[in-house]
Amino acid sequence: MQSLPGFRDFLPEECARRNYIFARWREVARRYSFVEWEGPPLEATELYKKKSGAEIVDQLFNFTDKGEREVALRPELTPTLARVVAAHDREFKKPLKWFSIGQFFRYEKQQRGRLREHFQLNCDILGEAGLAADIELVALCIDVLRAFGFGEKDFVVRISDREFWTDFLREKDVPVDRWDGLLQAIDKFGREPREKTAEKLGKLADPVFTTLETGGKSEKLGKFVDGLRVFGLADFVSVDIGIVRGLAYYTGIVFEVFDRAGKSRAVAGGGRYDNLIAQLSDGAVSLPALGFAMGDVVLGELIQEIPHVCQGMEKAIANDRKIDIYIVIAKEERRADALKQIQQLRDRGFHVDYPLTPTKVARQFQAAEEAGASLAVLYGDEWPQLKIKNMTTGARWQQHTPALHWTKLA
Ligand code: HAM
Repeated sequence: MQSLPGFRDFLPEECARRNYIFARWREVARRYSFVEWEGPPLEATELYKKKSGAEIVDQLFNFTDKGEREVALRPELTPTLARVVAAHDREFKKPLKWFSIGQFFRYEKQQRGRLREHFQLNCDILGEAGLAADIELVALCIDVLRAFGFGEKDFVVRISDREFWTDFLREKDVPVDRWDGLLQAIDKFGREPREKTAEKLGKLADPVFTTLETGGKSEKLGKFVDGLRVFGLADFVSVDIGIVRGLAYYTGIVFEVFDRAGKSRAVAGGGRYDNLIAQLSDGAVSLPALGFAMGDVVLGELIQEIPHVCQGMEKAIANDRKIDIYIVIAKEERRADALKQIQQLRDRGFHVDYPLTPTKVARQFQAAEEAGASLAVLYGDEWPQLKIKNMTTGARWQQHTPALHWTKLA
């Protein structure tokens, strides 16, 4: 039996890498004073049909449950967040700065950077309409990647403004009900054959292509970049009006993050979605909102590609695995004394290991080395004296049990 296509088993190595990613995500989100929250993995299919847009609806893992409800494994977090915030609006002072780390499911063709499940860090700010929030959010996204060791030579945040395109469509007298389809076609420019995009755009094809090729002007985006310059982060961004985002709910500044080499799909994407909460709550709650999500699959591939970033990760994982003390049981008669001591050490927070069954002393020292133990403590003939070996320096000494000051030793 194998795992399903696009699903992963996380053996200890992969699990350690995944946890390393989660730890950096959590650390930087907390640094920006975001608080953690979580939603359910299963939602009513309607939630996504209403708001995510055709592309994601086509990729849903959905089914009818035993209570005849139409349900879907979550493909993204934003609709859940909008639902939750609309329901609990009065309980929280604004703005809210919330982050979440969770698993998502999309029935996509498995390929580089794309699986059928992936983890995302989602960071969202709710209840703040000003540009300062957009700048703060992108600064956070940049700093998350910097925490892994990536620099401005490694990745770029491409920023754009959906309003630029909605103004454009309004100017051309395009009816509002056609906007979603046209924005999706513009979003795909460069990723699908030009003729296909032209066909979708109809008579708008020429003006859209000209705008994309000459680059549009936007005062708002200029101010946005100036804002990031104050943080010293302007070198990480570039204005690219071709970024529209595939999801339907965005209303303002949008962005996607790519590797500079241009080999990979977006590692993160997001933007402003000021109308979503009002739409989902039938106007009961209206809150400006913005956010982004970063995926672990593309991020994992990028980490592997940049040697110093990858080494940083492997070193951190190796350090994290190390134990403090390995108890060598050289005489089985001493096992009970050793176990008593092990329990005391673990109670004090030390990471301790020992052989579960009678094992040759040399094998035990080997195990101590493999576990990265700082100390090996031997229970043998010398009892109640203990033989101790500093595994880093090789220094050895003998000591009486009650005299051991473990806190000092480790
Ligand atoms: P998204 O662009 O659909 O945005 O996904 C965000 C990131 O998740 C992508 O850049 C990518 O790294 C990763 N991702 C998406 N699909 C897959 C897949 N099938 N396999 C592997 N990785 C994937 C959203 O989901 C928005 N809800 C983000 C957001 C939050 N907007 C506002 N707040």
